[in-house]
Amino acid sequence: MQETGFFEAINTQRQITRFKPDPVPKEAIDRVIEAATKAPSGGNSQPWEFVVVTDPDLINKIGTIYRELWLGARGDRPAPGESSVYRAARYLANHFHEVPAMVLICVDHSRTTGYTPGEPIERGRQASSIWLAVQNLFLAARALGLGTRLTTTHIRREDEVKALLGIPDYVETVCLTPLGYPRGNFGPTTRRPASEVTSYNQWGNRG
Ligand SMILES: Cc1cc2nc3c(=O)[nH]c(=O)nc-3n(C[C@H](O)[C@H](O)[C@H](O)COP(=O)(O)O)c2cc1C
Repeated sequence: MQETGFFEAINTQRQITRFKPDPVPKEAIDRVIEAATKAPSGGNSQPWEFVVVTDPDLINKIGTIYRELWLGARGDRPAPGESSVYRAARYLANHFHEVPAMVLICVDHSRTTGYTPGEPIERGRQASSIWLAVQNLFLAARALGLGTRLTTTHIRREDEVKALLGIPDYVETVCLTPLGYPRGNFGPTTRRPASEVTSYNQWGNRG
């Protein structure tokens, strides 16, 4: 497996919407998830769980839920002047059911302090212990030439997604990413320059 260097991976880590149908080797999926598990977490609680979906029937069902939700919220035709960000998101919504793999990133609340069996879980309470793992996963995927895109739309029908995957009630699904080889290129990304968002010693002193 050829690997991209660390800074090149960061500088070119676009959120991908168009994927080749080629399957993702299990070895690559395992490496990407291993990278995610190296992230820090509060009290080293490591409350994450990663549900990899490669079964085409499950991908089709979850992708269809995603499409119905996304188009239901934003309309099934682009609004006049729809931004390129939403055009890309719309493309993914229409094709999510065709991606070669998905990863659902979850919090297992039973591994966290303050969890009482049988009590409803408190959504978002462990978020800060999950997002660093998500970014590790994204960067590791980029390093291996694999595309990802952070989505949360499925949460509005989370119960259905959890039922499809046999996920227990004490587990919260945080985000869902497609995983696959991109059609087209990675980056460069369009971001505000660091010099515009950094202060030295006093707010607004750009150094
Ligand atoms: C919190 C969060 C939620 C997002 N939700 C969605 C989503 O529901 N659907 C989608 O296609 N992209 C989603 N994205 C991806 C963003 O649209 C993307 O990061 C942004 O447009 C930058 O894209 P780029 O990396 O290609 O420049 C989300 C990103 C973040 C950080």
